[in-house]
Amino acid sequence: MIPVMYARYLAGRANWIKGSALADVMKKASELQKKGRRLISLAAGDPDPSLIPRSVLGELAREILENEPKSVMYTPANGIPELREELADFLKRYDGVDVPPENIVITIGGTGALDLLGRVLIDPGDMVITENPSYINTLLAFEQLGARIEGVPVDENGMRTDVLEEKLRRLASEGRKVKFIYTIPTGQNPMGVTMSAERRKALLEIASQYDLLIIEDTAYNFMMYEGGNIRPLKALDDEGRVVVAGTLSKVLGTGFRIGWIAAEGEVLRKVLMQKQPIDFCAPAISQYIALEYLRRGYFEEYHLKKALPAYREKRDIMVASLEENLPWASFTRPIAGMFIMLFLPENASGMEFAGELMEKEGVVVVPGKPFYTDDSGINAIRLNFSRPSGEEISEGIRRLARLYREKFVS
Ligand SMILES: Cc1ncc(COP(=O)(O)O)c(C=O)c1O
Repeated sequence: MIPVMYARYLAGRANWIKGSALADVMKKASELQKKGRRLISLAAGDPDPSLIPRSVLGELAREILENEPKSVMYTPANGIPELREELADFLKRYDGVDVPPENIVITIGGTGALDLLGRVLIDPGDMVITENPSYINTLLAFEQLGARIEGVPVDENGMRTDVLEEKLRRLASEGRKVKFIYTIPTGQNPMGVTMSAERRKALLEIASQYDLLIIEDTAYNFMMYEGGNIRPLKALDDEGRVVVAGTLSKVLGTGFRIGWIAAEGEVLRKVLMQKQPIDFCAPAISQYIALEYLRRGYFEEYHLKKALPAYREKRDIMVASLEENLPWASFTRPIAGMFIMLFLPENASGMEFAGELMEKEGVVVVPGKPFYTDDSGINAIRLNFSRPSGEEISEGIRRLARLYREKFVS
């Protein structure tokens, strides 16, 4: 029999599709686990399942499935109206963002939101600005659509708006047009940093001056430990330039796949038209669970009162463990989100270190390099503190530091 040459059948566009380093790390870890190896994972982008009220959600699911026939049906492409209304209220209360329910489209997670926005905004060859580094899946999704990514460096106060301005000036002088700026201002993935209030203001002014849209990814807006006076870009946006890609994943659980787009005008209209043929709608059962979760005050009762303080404590444990075990190393100190970026000595390979750490010490971390839009970040390592327990964090960092010292400190 002649073997099928599958590659011959692929669309040209499939050449853009690249694997994700994250998926590679997870695959290797699960192979080791299958062989019986016990690993400490500081790699995930998940919340802690023990901080999600699973039995309450279980009861809710049963109640909904028994009493709401629409929970097993298609929903309108933009989501059930009750959830859009509840979400609009919720965003007003907790994010200071005033969007009418008709401007909200419920999506399959933030991932679905970003994919849809990419599809309606990006033509092949379009220039898109992101933070450098930025969330790997967004970079991959936008690149697959043919976007040319221009990264702007990030420091402890978020995107360097001075560098952004300089870059836009240069690009404009070369006659190159930028489509939009994608930013994760709060609890940035992978850096864990949060954009300061001044930078937020500057970013909006720059977008206005250069007539650009901003996609604000608010995935970590409900995981803020300090900095309560920092408001989302959308709350400061009086020109309608900010399009929001939001998600309940980090609060309700990544498995429910409930996200949203808040947009206006033609962007909103085209997103809706584009959505139906792609996925029809977000899962009805998840939409109804999200609705009741918000409506019955579980966000306050479980997320704000219990989960958030626990995540803050885990953040503190990771920062303290790093300070104690690696006092000379450079790492970010997040006020929001679930990640810390650790930097190995210059020119050391994070990729190699992550591999050795998994093999020798049984600790899984994600190399930072794939999140970068250029050749930098070789020595970066992304650490997650939301999913592991406090003990796993301390032990994981202790082992990481042991390998660090063995390799880099003589
Ligand atoms: C910055 C950012 N945006 C979006 C997402 C997507 O989340 P989801 O599709 O689970 O809503 C993530 C997940 O890690 C993220 O880190």
